[in-house]
Amino acid sequence: MESPEKFRKSASEVFKLMYVVFFVFLVIAGLLVYLMVDPSLSAFKNNNSDNTYISISKQEESDFDKIENGIHVRTGFIEAEGLMQVVNNCTSCHSAKLVTQNRMSKEQWSATIRWMQETQNLWDLGQNEEAILSYLATNYAPKKGGRRQNLSDVEWYDLEE
Ligand code: HEC
Repeated sequence: MESPEKFRKSASEVFKLMYVVFFVFLVIAGLLVYLMVDPSLSAFKNNNSDNTYISISKQEESDFDKIENGIHVRTGFIEAEGLMQVVNNCTSCHSAKLVTQNRMSKEQWSATIRWMQETQNLWDLGQNEEAILSYLATNYAPKKGGRRQNLSDVEWYDLEE
């Protein structure tokens, strides 16, 4: 029979061993779980093509609705309140140019929208309609002073018969 002293010593020896085994087991289990999730270890590979793809798409995203000199580059619309509602609702069937080349009063814009709704399957603009109308009427209003100035200082001459 061992002495209590010796027994305690070997018991603590056994415990130490159990700790070590336990941690080794934990590490192996962790690795196994990781392998199940990512069998090709792709997280550790420097996948260049993936990175390029991400950076390009981020770049495109930031360029997509770029504003330059007060103009929404993608469509040519003037930057102002209601821009994105107009971009989202008015450029899917025809070019934005069809909109920007026109100048109308609010009533005329409204009538154009009604006409498209009645004949061209334009959807109900709902809550966006007011924002769209006021954007259009403000930024694409009929130009004032469109006629040339009256002539002045004209040297008239008589037609000879
Ligand atoms: C569902 C499709 C559709 C949507 C969305 C749409 N339109 Fe149109 N729009 C048309 C069609 C079709 C025409 C006729 C095109 C043609 O004549 O070539 C047109 C013509 C126009 C014209 C020219 C009208 C004319 O008398 O020549 C203007 C201006 C216009 N749309 C403005 C808008 C605005 C502003 C919006 C956003 C509220 C919008 N469109 C959204 C289909 C649409």
